[in-house]
Amino acid sequence: MRIAILGTGRLARALGAHWRDVGHEVRHGAATPARPAPAEADTLPLAVAAAGADIIVLALPWAGVPAALAACGDLAGRVLIDATNPLVMGPNGLELAVGPDTSGGEQVQALVPGAQVFKALNHMGAAFMARATAGGRRPVTTVAGPETPALARVLGLIADLGFDARHGGELAMARLLEPQAMVWIRLAFSGRDPEEADCPFRGRTTAPA
Ligand SMILES: NC(=O)c1ccc[n+]([C@@H]2O[C@H](COP(=O)([O-])OP(=O)(O)OC[C@H]3O[C@@H](n4cnc5c(N)ncnc54)[C@H](OP(=O)(O)O)[C@@H]3O)[C@@H](O)[C@H]2O)c1
Repeated sequence: MRIAILGTGRLARALGAHWRDVGHEVRHGAATPARPAPAEADTLPLAVAAAGADIIVLALPWAGVPAALAACGDLAGRVLIDATNPLVMGPNGLELAVGPDTSGGEQVQALVPGAQVFKALNHMGAAFMARATAGGRRPVTTVAGPETPALARVLGLIADLGFDARHGGELAMARLLEPQAMVWIRLAFSGRDPEEADCPFRGRTTAPA
């Protein structure tokens, strides 16, 4: 599959490396594509990276999302995985900028009304992904988005990362997936190991095939 990952940071690199390993064609899009690319990946202007991709993955800081989407041009009919968290710095540290009566995922959908937006991959640390799936374990992870033919493509792509991807409901389920990320972030910032947290995907794993 041709995957455009908008971003070249920690999450973008982790996802890109995994997907390249299993044979997908990965391009990274950046607002400043002159910066060094992740290993073995092209980093291109956002619109160039997004053009022709089967799936576009948002892996940018929340503040950069509206401009990045606008830079991609018309995204009607396209399939997006929104892996971002709508984080802002509040008086007590990082907090969610939106919710609980809406979500970043739904705001992304409002920015690209003609696209199909799925919320996924936002609620676990990038460095955790490889460890979580080591030894053939397939941790359950939840995807929120429309029940359309594109859902199978999204679930398959996340399965290619080693996860047992399950559909958790419509995009509004992102209202629950984004606070899950906050639990992870708060634990990490407080010096506790978020991997030891009672994360929803720890308790249920699919046995190795
Ligand atoms: N890191 C994780 O473990 C993790 C896990 C799940 C979800 N997420 C979510 O994924 C997103 C990215 O997180 P990250 O940790 O990967 O970030 P990061 O390592 O800080 O990387 C951020 C990336 O976005 C680019 N960027 C920064 N500001 C931008 C802007 N205004 N417009 C366009 N691009 C901009 C940076 O490019 P330059 O270097 O050129 O500025 C860089 O490529 C966030 O929404 C985060 O909540 C992160």
